[in-house]
Amino acid sequence: MEQWLAIKENIKTWVREVGKEQLIRMEQPFQMKSKSSDIDLVTEVDEWSEQFLIDKIHTEYPEHSIMSEESGWHEGQADYEWVIDPIDGTVNFAHRFPFFCISIGVKYKGETVIGVVYVPKLDEMYEAVKGSGATLNGRSITVSVTERLNQAVVATGFPYDRATDPDNNVGNFNAIITKIGGIRRTGSAAIDLCQVAAGRFDAYWEIKLKEWDISAGLLIVEEAKGQTFSVKKEKGYQVLVGTPAIYDELSAILEWEK
Ligand code: IPD
Ligand code: CA
Ligand code: CA
Repeated sequence: MEQWLAIKENIKTWVREVGKEQLIRMEQPFQMKSKSSDIDLVTEVDEWSEQFLIDKIHTEYPEHSIMSEESGWHEGQADYEWVIDPIDGTVNFAHRFPFFCISIGVKYKGETVIGVVYVPKLDEMYEAVKGSGATLNGRSITVSVTERLNQAVVATGFPYDRATDPDNNVGNFNAIITKIGGIRRTGSAAIDLCQVAAGRFDAYWEIKLKEWDISAGLLIVEEAKGQTFSVKKEKGYQVLVGTPAIYDELSAILEWEK
């Protein structure tokens, strides 16, 4: 546990440095290219951020393995594995809409034990260590106490292949939109998860997510006493999280295999 806390302190220092640089670079011209589809982007700032973090981890923890969105798997010899999204919300970043974050989860023997999500523009640091609760800028957070679905504010997102694969979350969206108090689409899965943890959103669901989108955020929601469900499907993770009453109601509506 002491080692986890020490690792978390290092992560916080590094993501603050990365975030500061991201805000500067967002105001300047940057290179960008598409990945799986025309709307799935990567910028040179994603790549710079990722390399910065990997260099820090390699220097401080040379034995640890790393899984990072843009460069994939870096094999190590230890029981620790880092799961990194250097910019979650890249489309927002590319459009200079400053709603993006750095998301880092750390697994020990296969289980996520540390989660940090940092939102540079808001200077919001979300943190959790397994079994120790969740915090936002050092203050303890818990999920909301909302009980009625028609008062719930819920977030979701849509996959990058939504135009070519009918499994695109539109059916679920249509089934839910008329029953809830409000819907939000932030463009960052990690931020969505943290908004549920902080009690600002009452629930969040999405499909076809990658491990780096959710690794830190799921732990943060769990530690904020939220209900969480995630299952790996062929094209990524299906995720539902929320305050318990709203989670149960959405779970009954969502058209997917539980
Ligand atoms: C994306 C964001 C978005 C979600 C996508 C993710 P990226 O991550 O989290 O909210 O809808 O499924 O891929 O590409 O910005 O790192
Ligand atoms: Ca992401
Ligand atoms: Ca990303």
